Amino acid sequence: MERYMDAAFREIMRLRVNFNNMMKPKIGAHGLEEADFDAAKLGAANERMAQKRETMKWRELPYNQDEIVADILETAKGVRKEFDDFVVLGIGGSALGPIAVQQALNHLHYNDLPKAKRGGGPRLFVEDNVDPERMEALFDVIDIGRTCFNVITKSGGTSETMAQLLIICDALKKRGHTPEKHIIATTDEKKGNLIIIAKELGLKTFFVPDGVGGRFSELCPVGLLAAAVCGVDIKEMLAGAAYMDEISHEGDIWENPAHLAGAMMVLMMERGKNISVMMPYADSLKYMSDWYAQLWAESLGKRYDLNGNEVFVGQTPVKALGVTDQHSQVQLYAEGPFDKVTTFLKVGEYRTKVDIPDGFADIKDVSFLSGHTMNELIQAEERATEYALLKAGRPSWTITLPEVNAFTIGQLLYFFEVMTAFAGELMGINAFDQPGVEEGKNATYALLGKPGFEIKKQELDSAPANETRYVL
Ligand code: PA5
Repeated sequence: MERYMDAAFREIMRLRVNFNNMMKPKIGAHGLEEADFDAAKLGAANERMAQKRETMKWRELPYNQDEIVADILETAKGVRKEFDDFVVLGIGGSALGPIAVQQALNHLHYNDLPKAKRGGGPRLFVEDNVDPERMEALFDVIDIGRTCFNVITKSGGTSETMAQLLIICDALKKRGHTPEKHIIATTDEKKGNLIIIAKELGLKTFFVPDGVGGRFSELCPVGLLAAAVCGVDIKEMLAGAAYMDEISHEGDIWENPAHLAGAMMVLMMERGKNISVMMPYADSLKYMSDWYAQLWAESLGKRYDLNGNEVFVGQTPVKALGVTDQHSQVQLYAEGPFDKVTTFLKVGEYRTKVDIPDGFADIKDVSFLSGHTMNELIQAEERATEYALLKAGRPSWTITLPEVNAFTIGQLLYFFEVMTAFAGELMGINAFDQPGVEEGKNATYALLGKPGFEIKKQELDSAPANETRYVL
């Protein structure tokens, strides 16, 4: 039996969410009271979540991918055998999940290890920019003949990803390699250009299901393939997500941590807390903040509500890392404007223990550290920062992962997705579109002369010209 099927393991590995420091009795004036929670409004949002579940296809990913997972595992096995490097070409929701999961679940210097110490897997590169220097740099460190590329784009047409694909196809051709051996495509089954290209080139293809938007796609082949290639137990990750689904389907908000988190964040936004700081106390969780930043910003940052009224809502995500950013940003969090909510990500048991040895016994300000562990140090610093914010009357809440593993990471991803969707329901906005991103994409097409975007080009050309006095 897999460990994630064992009820005791599941209970031990359950995420713990502590909202005490969001409440008035703990932090005073900037905290919430139970009376602030409007039962009717919360009940209605909960009902809409249930009604819309069928359209939120990402909610079913933990359950409906048996065949796909089998295909991913088989494909990953082949990639691990044949290639030294695995390169993801994608951006936004097609890149941030793979980066976050790799950082969380593999060695922190995974790419620098010899292959045997990487468990036999290839190195992983996630190329999520079109900086020409980065592209050149990649070619300097990989052997293209020993590299598998996974081009990922849900829409099948994102300029950045398509440009990368063109470059890779050309480079493979010039070196006498065939694309079908080196490229795997992950895209929509029916829409977009990548599926057309994939068919033309005969590429191995995985699909992003309908109703699974980019930022909600980590638990489909978008994220699962890279994870499996690098040796992550993707079945356990999906089991963790399913467990969080069980935990977060509860109608009573006080029993449902993901809904409660969404509700608290919305109440805080309504009270002028326009910034959501995420501060993991673990390097392994560092890029969870990047993944969350996209999910939270793109889903909730909206001009219009569902009735077409201008609302200009959203909460700006800020990424911080404990303890590093205690020495950079915490001064602002404790004494600056009352416009932030901090989410701490804590780890119960780190995967290793490092002792702080004896030394410099006559210097008491140093030797007090001896006999402790780095584990104790980082946990004490987390507790101390929580306390400093509490004392300063600043709202914060904590999510504790009993351990960072595939099961808890699956829970965490699903938790934030449900929390975001529920917050969107409470705010009365569409959390699943991104018209602001589309505008930028269309302007890029116009500037680079994509057919059909001539009017957009005229619009851009007629924008007010720069005044020279403002350019120094
Ligand atoms: O969440 C989203 O939908 C976006 O951020 C997309 O992930 C991003 O724009 C990339 O799009 P695509 O996967 O279609 O290339």
